Amino acid sequence: MAASLHQMTAFAKIVGTGSLSAAARELGVSTAVVSRKLGALEARLGVRLLNRTTRRIALTDEGARYHEACLRILAEIEAFFQPKSLAGKRVLVTAGPTEEPIDPVRVITNASSGKMGFAVARAAREAGAEVTLISGPVALATPAGLARVDVRTAQEMFDAVKAAAGSSDIFVSVAAVSDYRVANRVAQKIKKRAGEGPRLELVENPDILAWVAKQRAAPFCVGFAAESEKLGEHAREKRARKGIPLLAANLAQEAIGSDDNAITLFDDNGEHPLGRGPKIELARKLVAHVAALMAARQRRR
Ligand code: CTP
Repeated sequence: MAASLHQMTAFAKIVGTGSLSAAARELGVSTAVVSRKLGALEARLGVRLLNRTTRRIALTDEGARYHEACLRILAEIEAFFQPKSLAGKRVLVTAGPTEEPIDPVRVITNASSGKMGFAVARAAREAGAEVTLISGPVALATPAGLARVDVRTAQEMFDAVKAAAGSSDIFVSVAAVSDYRVANRVAQKIKKRAGEGPRLELVENPDILAWVAKQRAAPFCVGFAAESEKLGEHAREKRARKGIPLLAANLAQEAIGSDDNAITLFDDNGEHPLGRGPKIELARKLVAHVAALMAARQRRR
């Protein structure tokens, strides 16, 4: 009997964790249960996992490449089944942190894995859009079918966004941009002196999202806000301050580095909780919301 998309996704998720014990931790079950599940899925899918008996699922290079290919194929299958609500649209996404050098080895940065931004880029591409992803330093593979531009500093991200924003229909600013850069950055490593910390002079970085939103013929702008408290209050204030139609807000302590998140959207019609779940599922809901708002805008014109 053919395997369902759900079963194939479960299989890919277990394989993607790399070892039985990691999969067991992730699923909250014993390794014996994972092993049994894998056996059942292997039989059902008609495939055989490399290295399963040694408890390492993707230990060899060959195994890792094989599983990477499986995950890509599964991602394409999942993409195929998503509604094409952004067909013909060009979407620009920023993701990850930026890094501001202090000296050749030290930086100021923000805590961000880039997972949410990458999920948004992937969801937009699944919805039929042509996607450009501008990413700060992250350790993530590029989702299939999109153009990626790697940057380091906020200024580099700003330059890359300026170059692409004019030809975009939608701009989703997920990046955790460093608000400040170091004015007194030095070319050689600062040596430690006992009892005396270096003094950093900080200057404000450009607000990339606010700049894009202010342009004549600006793309439809979506902001992200990672707050530590008073989510609704900060989100409403931030949406107004940045002059954007839509803001997605989450609690930083629940989101950073995790594969799951809980997001609430804020727009002219009020607030819309998307609930809690994997970042890719929340990203798909966000994309559907953007598509609906854009369609409503189109009807009003
Ligand atoms: N953002 C940006 N450029 C910056 C700072 C933020 O484009 N220099 C964008 C982020 O990508 C995000 C939104 O603005 O979409 C909100 O970022 P956040 O850091 O939460 O807002 P700030 O304006 O920096 O406010 P605060 O740090 O005081 O909460």
